[in-house]
Amino acid sequence: MSDTMTAPYTAGEAKAPVKRIPVAVLGATGSVGQRFVQLLEHHPWFKLHEVVASERSAGRPYREAAGWRLDTLMPDDAAALAVKPLGAELQSRLVFSGLDSSVAGEAEDDYANRGCVVVSNSRNHRMDPDVPLLIPELNADHVGVIEQQQKRRGGRGYIVTNPNCSTIGLAMAIAPVERLYGIEAIHVTTMQAISGAGYNGVASWAILDNVIPYIGGGEEEKIESEPRKILGRLENGQFVDAPFRISAQVNRVPTIDGHLMTISLGLRSRNFVNLDQVREAIDNFRGEPQHLRLPSAPHRPLHYVAEADRPQPRLDRDRERGMSVSVGRLRPCPLLDLRMVALVHNTIRGAAGAALLNAELLEAKGML
Ligand SMILES: NC(=O)c1ccc[n+]([C@@H]2O[C@H](COP(=O)([O-])OP(=O)(O)OC[C@H]3O[C@@H](n4cnc5c(N)ncnc54)[C@H](OP(=O)(O)O)[C@@H]3O)[C@@H](O)[C@H]2O)c1
Repeated sequence: MSDTMTAPYTAGEAKAPVKRIPVAVLGATGSVGQRFVQLLEHHPWFKLHEVVASERSAGRPYREAAGWRLDTLMPDDAAALAVKPLGAELQSRLVFSGLDSSVAGEAEDDYANRGCVVVSNSRNHRMDPDVPLLIPELNADHVGVIEQQQKRRGGRGYIVTNPNCSTIGLAMAIAPVERLYGIEAIHVTTMQAISGAGYNGVASWAILDNVIPYIGGGEEEKIESEPRKILGRLENGQFVDAPFRISAQVNRVPTIDGHLMTISLGLRSRNFVNLDQVREAIDNFRGEPQHLRLPSAPHRPLHYVAEADRPQPRLDRDRERGMSVSVGRLRPCPLLDLRMVALVHNTIRGAAGAALLNAELLEAKGML
C-alpha cells in the first residue's frame, strides 16, 4: 500500500473548529466520491455524515452500493451509511460534490439555493462569473466573489469549484514562472490516467496496450480556458483572465492514477531566463494553505525532482499524500522558451483533496 493515505494530516493548524463539521458527499459511490470518503475518515475538521448517489444506489448501504476500489479498507462509519437519493433533504450544510456532470449542474444549484455550501469537482459551474475556481495556493482571494453569488441566490448558500484534474497540475506548475517572467503562450500535452474517466469510463479492452489521443467532455477546452481564470485577477467583483494563450492535446494512457504532462512556455521577458532561479522558485513556492497551516495542505505544493527520468506516475504521484505537484526536466525550449514535465495525482490533488483544501480555506476564513 502506498503512503498516500497513511500519513497524518498537517498538525498544529491554527483555527480548528471546536467540533468536526458534518458533511455530505454527492456522488459518493464514484471514483472521486470514494476518494472523498477515504480522505474524510481521519479528517480533523470534517466528519462524513451523509452519502448521496443515483437512484441505482439510493436506499442501499454504502458498503454494497459503492463497489470499493481504493487500496485502503472502506471506513466502517461510511460502510454503514444508507445512500440517499439526489435531491434528498440533507442535514449537513457543507456538501462535497463528485457528481457526474450530466446531473451536477442542476443538483449543485439546487443545494446552494437551499443554503448549502457546495464544494464541487464538476465542470458545470467552474466558469460562472460569480463562482470561484479555486486553487488556494494561487488565488485564495477569488473567494471575494462569493458574497455576490449569495446575493443572487438570496441566501447563505453558494458554490465553489476546483479545476479540472489536469488544469490543477498545469496551473500550479506554471505559477512560479508566471510570477517571475510572465507567460505569453503555453503548449501542453497530457498523458492522463484511467481513474480520471470514472470506473466505467474506459473499457480495459480499449486502453490496455494502447494510448487514446482523445478525451471527451471538452477536456482540451477546459485546459485551455480554466488556467486563465485561475491565474487571472478579481477586479471590482469581476474576473479578468490572464492574457496567455494555451494549446492543449490530451491522451488517455494505461496508468491508474496520476496525470503526467509535458509543458512548453513562451515568456514575456525571455531575455533573462535563469533555470536555477526557476527551480528555486518552484521549490520555494508557498501559498495561503501553507501560511494558514490547513490540514490538507502539503508542506510544499511544488517539488522539483532533479532526476533526468522523473517525475513518473507510479513513483511520484503520492508525494505529500498526493497533494503536491511534482515538476522536473526543466530546460530551454527551441520553439518557445522553457520546457518542463509535471505530474498531479488526479483524484487527490486533482479532485477530492483539492475540494477538501478549498473547504478548509473557507472554514479558516469564517465562511462556512
Ligand atoms: N476522476 C477524476 O480524476 C476527476 C477529477 C476531477 C474532476 N472530476 C469530475 O468529478 C465528477 C465525478 O467523476 P468520477 O470520475 O468520480 O465519476 P464516476 O466514477 O462515474 O462517478 C459518478 C458519480 O455520480 C453519480 N451519478 C451518476 N448519475 C447520477 C444521477 N443521474 N443522479 C445522481 N447521481 C448520479 C454516481 O452514482 P451511482 O454509483 O449511483 O451511479 C457516482 O456516485 C465528474 O463531474 C468529473 O468530471 C473527476
